[in-house]
Amino acid sequence: MQIKMENGAVAFPFSVKINSVTGKMDDYDTHIERSLSTLVSIFSDPDAAEDFLEKNGDTLAYEVYEKNIPEVNGEIRFCSSITYPGKIGNEYFMTKGHFHSRLDTAEIYYCIRGNGCILMEKKDGNPILENMYPGRVVYVPGYYAHRSINIGDEPLISLPAYPGDAGHDYKSIEDNGFRHIVVEKNGKPALLENPRYGRMGK
Ligand code: PA5
Ligand code: NI
Repeated sequence: MQIKMENGAVAFPFSVKINSVTGKMDDYDTHIERSLSTLVSIFSDPDAAEDFLEKNGDTLAYEVYEKNIPEVNGEIRFCSSITYPGKIGNEYFMTKGHFHSRLDTAEIYYCIRGNGCILMEKKDGNPILENMYPGRVVYVPGYYAHRSINIGDEPLISLPAYPGDAGHDYKSIEDNGFRHIVVEKNGKPALLENPRYGRMGK
């Protein structure tokens, strides 16, 4: 049976397969590719990102496959999120990160492949870093900005799922960044204060 939403959107029952090696979703509706050259300003050392690009050329940092599920209360949107391994200086490749537009909406991340973490930060308070490895589920409560970080040497593949009406608010992260960064220190991930917090957009 089709479910007719108040705004006219219609959800059909369906299923998809996510390849557990590549992260590719079959029969997806939308494919987002984020190359490193579009992400220079998310790193705490953008000059190092420019140097990386000059030396190595552009590379795919992360990508997302998703189905077009209605963005309404009651539905659940999900995707396949693939963050590739790499570092800018000591800072690991990561997603842009966002708050949900509806701040009180939560999310889960189910890790399919790889080794990484989810960095979570409220507008104030301490940062939370949760590990991601195959089989692990991370719960992101409402009000927390969140991003995936790949601390391993293979693709970090996860299945995030969140309320249909959550929306994505990228602007405050684009302007201010997260208050913390995750870098490799003595061969291990370390959480440090972001030296560029509050002026990422400049
Ligand atoms: O909603 C989420 O948190 C995920 O589906 C992300 O959108 C996905 O991992 C891509 O990251 P970002 O939205 O930070 O570009
Ligand atoms: Ni989210």
